[in-house]
Amino acid sequence: MSDVNPRLAVLASGTGTNLQALMDDPQVGPHIVVVVSDRPEAMALERARARGIEAVVCRPADHPDRASHDRALRDLLLERDVGYVALAGYMRIVGPELIAAFPNRILNLHPALLPAFPGMHAVEDALAWGVKVTGVTVHIVDEEVDHGPIVAQEPVRVREDDDVESLRGRIHEVEHRIFPRAVRALIEGRLKVEGRVVHVLEELEEREGG
Ligand code: GRF
Repeated sequence: MSDVNPRLAVLASGTGTNLQALMDDPQVGPHIVVVVSDRPEAMALERARARGIEAVVCRPADHPDRASHDRALRDLLLERDVGYVALAGYMRIVGPELIAAFPNRILNLHPALLPAFPGMHAVEDALAWGVKVTGVTVHIVDEEVDHGPIVAQEPVRVREDDDVESLRGRIHEVEHRIFPRAVRALIEGRLKVEGRVVHVLEELEEREGG
């Protein structure tokens, strides 16, 4: 375990299937203390409430500018003594003050193999480009969008007859598997960051098992 407490916040804007995967992971779920969304109608909030996890709305429209929204979000997390943050389909840029409060302790999930296809429309962009392989990236959040050091990646093949929906479906399956693993490594203090390279230390059982 790391020195940082493993209390985890999950930020989500949408349906929250990745939040669900995190809540369902026995090593991660119990550490989630709050789920925050920028959208009051996000299904992720309902999923959190159904688990008895605090669900909070923090809307940019309620703040005069981006920086004060960022500070409000940071303060909300600090008040709850959060140690780590997982962005599970959070469709906003995380600001510098929030990032500074959680250095190397925020993970983002992206539906493409970064640095290919950053941005909001990664699945559409990959299809339109005609790539034969795309995938999933989990990375540490830094001050540039979809840019920080990479923790995990897995390829997904593009099929001849794929459309956005079918490709997104297979990407989601991979996300639900690799995001909880990466978040587990994060909250267990097993990510060692050296410049752009992240070493993921093995789980204790695996190491002891030889
Ligand atoms: C995921 O595909 C993630 O990569 C992207 O947003 C999507 C969120 O899906 N950033 P869900 O809300 O977890 O179902």
